[in-house]
Amino acid sequence: MAQRGIFITFEGVEGAGKTTQVQRLEATLGPDVVVTREPGGTPVSERIRDIFLTSDRITTMTELLLIAAARAQHVDERIRPALAANQIVICDRFIDATVAYQGYRGGIDLEIIRQLNHIATGGLTPDITFILDLPPEIGLQRQQQDETHRDRLDREPLEFHRRVREGYLAAAEAEPQRIKLIDATQTPDDVHTEILTEYQAYLSK
Ligand code: TMP
Repeated sequence: MAQRGIFITFEGVEGAGKTTQVQRLEATLGPDVVVTREPGGTPVSERIRDIFLTSDRITTMTELLLIAAARAQHVDERIRPALAANQIVICDRFIDATVAYQGYRGGIDLEIIRQLNHIATGGLTPDITFILDLPPEIGLQRQQQDETHRDRLDREPLEFHRRVREGYLAAAEAEPQRIKLIDATQTPDDVHTEILTEYQAYLSK
């Protein structure tokens, strides 16, 4: 199936404001936008998300394989068909999250992650990725104000969140064409404006 739409992904440490920015970009880009998330986005993938987020005793390799299974279903059932129908797809987390969480935080070899990402996506890569970057201390502080939205990974020690950020920064450095690092300590308005500027620049290429 040929890809014709535009595939945008959002990434970031916990509390970076992804949800707000995804909603704002969706509102700006208009009605022909599909908003989805990982892990999740299809009935089967949402069930896997539930297992992933609520299981206390889970190895990092199991995490990786669950994420890959959820992603394979999501790409086939939802993302590729939407792109083929010329839609804009905005996905809240995707392959770079696996590098940051299961790779940098979890310690799984980055080459294994790269291969599994490739298998699960069938080689589909986002056209543009926004990493909302901020020190994890600030992100976690923001999140603690809303305890109901904290999951298993949010409760991990600060050191883990630092490694996640390190993973995202490394990903951004490795692929500057695709990945745009956005300073998420700015106001939500300023973050949105910067995202739009980067998006316009991508379109005019
Ligand atoms: P969310 O909080 O952005 O909804 O994401 C759910 C959790 O899933 C978050 O803590 C990060 C984690 N995650 C991974 O560990 N690896 C992945 O590949 C993805 C997509 C998410």
